[in-house]
Amino acid sequence: MARKFFVGGNFKMNGTRKDLKAIVDNLNNAQLDPNVEVVIAPPALYLEFVKQNLTKPNIEVAAQNVFNKPNGAFTGEISVSQLQDLGIKWTLLGHSERRNELGESDEFVASKTKFALDNGISVIWCCGESKDTRQAGETIKFVENQLAALAKEINDWKNVVIAYEPIWAIGTGLVATKEQAQEVHASIRSWLKQNVSEKVAEETRILYGGSVNAKNCKDLAKEEDIDGFLVGGASLKPEFVDIINSKQ
Ligand code: G3P
Repeated sequence: MARKFFVGGNFKMNGTRKDLKAIVDNLNNAQLDPNVEVVIAPPALYLEFVKQNLTKPNIEVAAQNVFNKPNGAFTGEISVSQLQDLGIKWTLLGHSERRNELGESDEFVASKTKFALDNGISVIWCCGESKDTRQAGETIKFVENQLAALAKEINDWKNVVIAYEPIWAIGTGLVATKEQAQEVHASIRSWLKQNVSEKVAEETRILYGGSVNAKNCKDLAKEEDIDGFLVGGASLKPEFVDIINSKQ
């Protein structure tokens, strides 16, 4: 079956209302491939602002994180009910910057993913290895361990999009080669087939993230198991439109 191409923009901790208005205006005025699912993830402070300023109905807004418990005494956290209150249907989870900077374990990320899915929030679940892990030849094993922690928690994958983001490619300009990315994407799909189901393996979109830009996106998009991108720095720039349209 054809998987709908998917492009996410992870704005990370960037932007003020002025900056975000410029990004949203650019998207509102752009000709976007109607066959591509687009989700943008501004900082939490601006979720409502971005949603209110988007005029294109087919662009969804995502949080960059959400907690794994209902509202309560969790200072600084965001709850699924607050996302629902704003009409936010997506969240990123398990980004390497949160796993590494904030010590989010595979199990904690899996628990947050389950809680979000159980409460109607779709998840872009992030995984990926460090430079040392890749140099040690342990990339596939590392990513499969991350997948195994997730598979232990969740049963329903229909609202999960996987983003493979090699840490050594994030923000470095060192984009993975199409061969490197395809190899890991194919391994993820094969793992899903063996450990979850053929249907989930076939239907789950697997995005590549890590220094994607307007120059390298078209070649990467041609790879069989690359179903889209999760874009950081370039999502803040006008070239994000070219990345969305990379299949054209
Ligand atoms: O979540 C996407 C991000 O980690 C990739 O960042 O700046 O390398 O596109 P960047």
